[in-house]
Amino acid sequence: MAHFSDLGDFVQQLPKTETHLHLEGSLPLELARKLDPEKFAEPPPYWRPDFRFHDFAEFQEQFDRYFFHWFVSPENYYDSCKIVFERLVAQNCVYLEASFHLGVAENLSVPFREVARAIHAASPPELEFRLFLGMFRDHYQGQLAGLLDEAITWDEIAGVDLHGFEHPAFQRWSAEVWSRVRSLGKVTKAHAGEFSSAEDVRQAVIDLGVRRVQHGLRAIDDPTVVEMLKTEEVTLDMTPISNVKLMAVPSMREHPIRQFMRAGINCTISTDDPMLFGNSLNGEYMGLANDAGFTRGDLVQLASNGFAVADLSTEKKQEFFARLDQTLGRSTGHGAGG
Ligand code: ADE
Ligand code: ZN
Repeated sequence: MAHFSDLGDFVQQLPKTETHLHLEGSLPLELARKLDPEKFAEPPPYWRPDFRFHDFAEFQEQFDRYFFHWFVSPENYYDSCKIVFERLVAQNCVYLEASFHLGVAENLSVPFREVARAIHAASPPELEFRLFLGMFRDHYQGQLAGLLDEAITWDEIAGVDLHGFEHPAFQRWSAEVWSRVRSLGKVTKAHAGEFSSAEDVRQAVIDLGVRRVQHGLRAIDDPTVVEMLKTEEVTLDMTPISNVKLMAVPSMREHPIRQFMRAGINCTISTDDPMLFGNSLNGEYMGLANDAGFTRGDLVQLASNGFAVADLSTEKKQEFFARLDQTLGRSTGHGAGG
């Protein structure tokens, strides 16, 4: 492995993926300041490392109170994404999957597709970008149902995700729509097991048919679900700092990511909502190294896992694995730790 004396340099040099990012939870502080100059004059309290949200409702409330108010036009999405994408590229993130929220369509005065186009227009050429359409578990109602049926066919949309509160249980419509999305050659994800249960993770995989679970933490409570994740080759797109600040796990050290990796499950790491956690992609890698004892080899494995599951051609993946090897001064293999 090439020698980097400083862990920060090592993490920076690693080509990385971000595969679990909510665009509305990524609003840069300088733009939040335009929404509310007083409230955001200084970084918000939730950026402090020791901050904890009492519960998911307190976190979700920040979206409703502040951040959704920014995301009301294609221009505003563009301005936010431009900064967010540049900052990811500056951290050597080369592949990004990010979601935008179906519910914003209700407050738009232009066609929803314009938002998807504006987000893509903000993506720089150095970044392989895939846009996901995210929605709540009960969002298939009224005009949003028809809009979703249409949006899943757009070239701008690489896939879909279910987010927000993890209750009620998955509704019948989602299995049908998710299956349709896959038949269009696109990727399906679902948030499950952040706070809910191992059973909820099982349902995401078995009933919804996803092979990409966002979080999936609670699967650790049931060995049969862990086994199922392995045999079904499910990837867990995990977000350690978000999990600590939302108290889904007690601490970085007690995060189950290590156990999942030991059980042979493909895990990636991402930031989830940097505006609400004050985190960065490099910071996630640093946090696992400094607070959970991850070795540099473990960090390489995490970066490699992101490329393994990426929505990319085999050739493109090989290119990224080679870049990973090159950074590490290795001549063979494909970034499988070490
Ligand atoms: N939406 C944005 N961040 C989320 C999270 N961590 N869990 C569920 N839904 C979300
Ligand atoms: Zn999320």
